[in-house]
Amino acid sequence: HIDPADYVRNAIRSVPNWPKPGITFRDITPVLQDPRSFRVLIDLFVYRYMRQRLDLVAGVDARGFILGAVLAYELNLGFVPVRKKGKLPFDTVAEEYSLEYGNATVEMHTDSVRPGQRVLLIDDLIATGGTMVAASKLLQRLGANVVEAAAIIDLPYLGGSKALKETGLDIYTVCS
Ligand code: PRP
Ligand code: HPA
Repeated sequence: HIDPADYVRNAIRSVPNWPKPGITFRDITPVLQDPRSFRVLIDLFVYRYMRQRLDLVAGVDARGFILGAVLAYELNLGFVPVRKKGKLPFDTVAEEYSLEYGNATVEMHTDSVRPGQRVLLIDDLIATGGTMVAASKLLQRLGANVVEAAAIIDLPYLGGSKALKETGLDIYTVCS
């Protein structure tokens, strides 16, 4: 018997010195590639959220799209994208943020959430937490109730999940 979270953790690949010297990149592509770890991962999220009242799943560009779309489908919910700047064709709201390695802007369509909707936010990883903070700010600006921010991996030494919790957001990660 193996703990499902360990099963997922064991499938994550750490790549030293990518994309820059000194950064060890947690690569989730092996988790997705293996049908068993992919299913175990999605089922962890499904079992956590199946009894919660949710209206939408919002996934962060790019790996949050893969997780969020599958999870939304399984939970019978709609999916909305939180995209990198300049990709969405309709009216947008934008938030700038800083990354572990650089700056970026995320955008959402202004009509992607209705005020009061209960939204689950999902991405692959929390590093500094900047992306999740920006995404949750966008959702809140659109009137969403961000029920939880979920990710596969937390990198606790970067303080991101702690900072996120201090903004009042509930966080769930499969492993760290
Ligand atoms: C990574 C990761 C998260 C974010 C985490 O994406 O997928 O979205 O960084 O970092 P943070 O907690 O410090 O904000 P990245 O911005 O590299 O974009 P990509 O998905 O296009 O590779
Ligand atoms: N993996 C994936 N995305 C990331 C990482 C990582 O290690 N660090 C910052 N964003």
